Amino acid sequence: MPATAPTWDPAQYLRHAGHRARPFTDLLARVQDLPADPPRIADLGCGPGNVTVLLADRWPTARITGYDNSPQMLERARQHAGPTPGGGHLDFAPADARTWTPAEPCDLLVSNATLQWIPGHADRFPDWIDHLTPGGTLALQVPGNFDAPSHRLLRELAHSRRWHGRLDGVLRHDDAVLTPEAYLAHLTGTGCTADVWETTYVHLLPGEDAVLDWVKGTGLRPVLAALDDDPEARDAFVEEYRNVLRAAYPAGAHGTPFPFRRVFAVARKPEAATGR
Ligand SMILES: C[S@@+](CC[C@H](N)C(=O)[O-])C[C@H]1O[C@@H](n2cnc3c(N)ncnc32)[C@H](O)[C@@H]1O
Repeated sequence: MPATAPTWDPAQYLRHAGHRARPFTDLLARVQDLPADPPRIADLGCGPGNVTVLLADRWPTARITGYDNSPQMLERARQHAGPTPGGGHLDFAPADARTWTPAEPCDLLVSNATLQWIPGHADRFPDWIDHLTPGGTLALQVPGNFDAPSHRLLRELAHSRRWHGRLDGVLRHDDAVLTPEAYLAHLTGTGCTADVWETTYVHLLPGEDAVLDWVKGTGLRPVLAALDDDPEARDAFVEEYRNVLRAAYPAGAHGTPFPFRRVFAVARKPEAATGR
C-alpha cells in the first residue's frame, strides 16, 4: 500500500466511465457458464458499482455482492443495491482485499482494475480459488501501464528535487502488477485452467488536459491525498504534471489519444475439485 492511502472521488472516477467499463465487458466475455443457477458472484474492489451492475445483465438471477474498502466508493455503489430486473439481488459491503475471503463459496469472483493496489496479490489466489465452487471462475483485470508516460512522468516528478521530500514512498511500487506469464503460472499452479491475455486500448479522450483528468480519478490520488493539507503545494504539483502531460499526450482534432495497456486473466477451477 502507498504510505498515504488514496481517498477516492467517485464523481471524478466516473468521468471516464465508458472507457473504464470496456475492459470489464471484455473480461466477462471470456467467462464461461457458471456452475450454479442462481450463481453467487463477488466483485472485489467494486468502486462506484457501475460495472458491478453489468454482472446482472450477464447473469440476471445472480446474487451479487460488491466489496470495497473505500467508504466514498461504497456510498456511491449502494445507489445500485437491491433486487435486479432478472430476479437476482445486488448488495455492497466493506472488505479489505488484502485479507478478505468470501463468506460463502462463489461461482465467480471478479476483480477489475483493483489488484494493482494490493501488493503481493497473487499470493491471495490460492485462498480465493479454494473458496470457489467446483467449476467456478476467478476473473481479473489489472492495468499494465506503469511504464507509460502518464505514470513514468508522475514518478519522475514525485522523485524530483522539489517534491521527493513530500512524496517519498507515496506512489505504488513499479511491480504493482505481474507479467501475463506470471499470472498464468500462478493460476495454473493452483490447478485451474487459465486464459491470460493483454490488450492496449487507445482511448480517445474528450476535453482539455484529458489525460490529467483521467489520472485524477486513479493514479494521481495518492499524491492528492499526501498534499491534501497544503492546497498551494497540491495545485503547484498538478500544474507541473499538467505541463509534462500536455507535451507527452498532445490533443488531436478529435480528442487526445491515450494508449492504455491492460492484463486479463480468467481461471476456472476444475469441476471435480474437492477443495471445500
Ligand atoms: C480503479 S477502482 C476500480 C473500480 C471498479 N472495479 C471498476 O472497474 O470501475 C479501484 C478500486 O479498488 C478499491 N481498493 C483499493 N484497495 C483496496 C483494498 N485493499 N480492498 C478493497 N478495495 C480496494 C478502491 O477503493 C477502488 O474502488
